[in-house]
Amino acid sequence: MGQLVVLNHPLVHHHLSILRAKETPPALFRQQIERLSMLLAYKVTESLPTADFPIQTPVAPLTTQRLSARIALVPILRAGLGLVDPLLNLLPDAEVWHLGMYRDEATAKPVEYYCKLPDDGATDIAIVLDPMLATGGSTRMAITTLKKWGVQDIRVFSVIAAQPGIDAVRNEFPDVSIFVCTVDPELNSHKFIVPGLGDAGDRIFNTQR
Ligand code: PRP
Repeated sequence: MGQLVVLNHPLVHHHLSILRAKETPPALFRQQIERLSMLLAYKVTESLPTADFPIQTPVAPLTTQRLSARIALVPILRAGLGLVDPLLNLLPDAEVWHLGMYRDEATAKPVEYYCKLPDDGATDIAIVLDPMLATGGSTRMAITTLKKWGVQDIRVFSVIAAQPGIDAVRNEFPDVSIFVCTVDPELNSHKFIVPGLGDAGDRIFNTQR
């Protein structure tokens, strides 16, 4: 059974408050996304496997631990791009594979427009990056693609989620673990997260109109 991990930490509450506020400008919004991603990264990486790695310190030999799995970061374009750098900073050897999806405004269903996963077999662990999980449609489409690609260990990494979206993902994929900074209770009639933070992609890329 996959885990649902929701952060509860003073730093997370503080940085979420700034992230959500309407007047927060794009430059600061991007920084907040990065700060929250680093805090959430601690949890999503907690169970990564390691292997013994012998080194020599300046003083003595020592058997240390290094990450041993092949890890893929899978940002969902566009907004997921804002999560890549903070994760790569901590996982510099990770592969990054992009999935392009937008949510049709009329139906709120995801439409895939880019997928270029290689044929040469899968990765050990895939971390799906998207700051928002609303209905969960985009996340479910990404998980379906990664399962077909052959990934066994899929983890969802999202800053803010709505409870209905979480429920939909967990119902369809009970084996997938979800890591989020916070969960909001509902969606409005336009399928936006309430109270939410607006449209993360537009706020990251300064394309709000
Ligand atoms: C947003 C968000 C997710 C999706 C969440 O993307 O970044 O990808 O919607 O909604 P869902 O859980 O109901 O599928 P959007 O369609 O705004 O595209 P963008 O990232 O290009 O702004």
